[in-house]
Amino acid sequence: METKKIGILTGGADCPGLNALIRGVVVKAVSLNYEVIGFRRGWKGLYDGGDFIQLERDDVEDIHMLGGTIIRTSRFNPFEIPDAPEKVLKNFEKYNAEGLIVVGGERTLNIAQKFYELKMPIVGVPKTIDNNVACTDYTFGFDSAVNTATEAIDRLHTTARSHERVLVVEVMGANAGWMALHSGIAGGAHLILIPEVPFEIDEVCKLVKQRKKEGKEYSLIVIAEGAVPSDLDAHNINLALNHRIQEVKSGTGIGDWLAACIHNKTNIETRSVVLGHIQRGGAPSSFDRIIGTRMGIKAVELVNQKKFGMMTALNGTDIVGIPIAEAISNPKKVSLQLYEEIKPFFY
Ligand code: F6P
Repeated sequence: METKKIGILTGGADCPGLNALIRGVVVKAVSLNYEVIGFRRGWKGLYDGGDFIQLERDDVEDIHMLGGTIIRTSRFNPFEIPDAPEKVLKNFEKYNAEGLIVVGGERTLNIAQKFYELKMPIVGVPKTIDNNVACTDYTFGFDSAVNTATEAIDRLHTTARSHERVLVVEVMGANAGWMALHSGIAGGAHLILIPEVPFEIDEVCKLVKQRKKEGKEYSLIVIAEGAVPSDLDAHNINLALNHRIQEVKSGTGIGDWLAACIHNKTNIETRSVVLGHIQRGGAPSSFDRIIGTRMGIKAVELVNQKKFGMMTALNGTDIVGIPIAEAISNPKKVSLQLYEEIKPFFY
């Protein structure tokens, strides 16, 4: 009897919890007599052909505590190269696998859906520190990144207070403000700026000056990398920053820009810090390990039941299957209602 096979790849940005997921997939798959093939470097492994590793139980025994992904990742998109989708399909056929588990954020899941429409047996798993994938309560990676950012913000409070400064902390989140919102609330920021709600520089300066007037020694502002100023001049500056996001993809410079504006307009000493990739690195939180593990198990079950075109999702405390197409139709953004709810803390 021929052995059954399952493939797995991790695409897009890495995040804490990916290795717990891989371990979940391997342990569950082996229990159902599957062999697991880990395609390396995201879609690139399948495009190149032959770039894979066989994953046995022993290979994943204690990887749950490690950050990153043992099968590596890349932002390679076969749909940006002529003939690449055909090559990926042909290469995948050679392995004779029953299904391919694709672990990724918005972009990777979009590619997964396109391959599903080309008849590839795909099951998706959402992951990202941005938490911006719809139809799942949380993506794994987010909790660990929020914990890391919160710890950094806690530290920045003490140095900001000692120097009686304004500190602007730029966190990741190009199109959704989840990281800024959660780390800002947990870290007790005096103001949180997110991409969903354009900010007015004069309002920001007003808050900082008011705090000074009331004898508060310092101000700490958390800003998402994709936050935008609402006035036109500032908007033009931001277009330049957005260009930078395409180029270097780590920090847009909006935090530096805001700090310079505050300094110039209020004459209060201001510094900025970009947390950058520190948020993505390191060991996963126990929450992310558990969600990662359970999503791995569920993904194998979906392949085994031949429920292709589906994605695992966290629904309350349950891990369920939903169509990938539903999840990618709209990224999950912070609602105005939620932002309003925490506004009383901006003082
Ligand atoms: O999508 C996750 C993310 O961490 C974003 O928050 C950030 O804008 C981007 O990846 C950074 O990408 P890179 O690692 O390619 O610089």
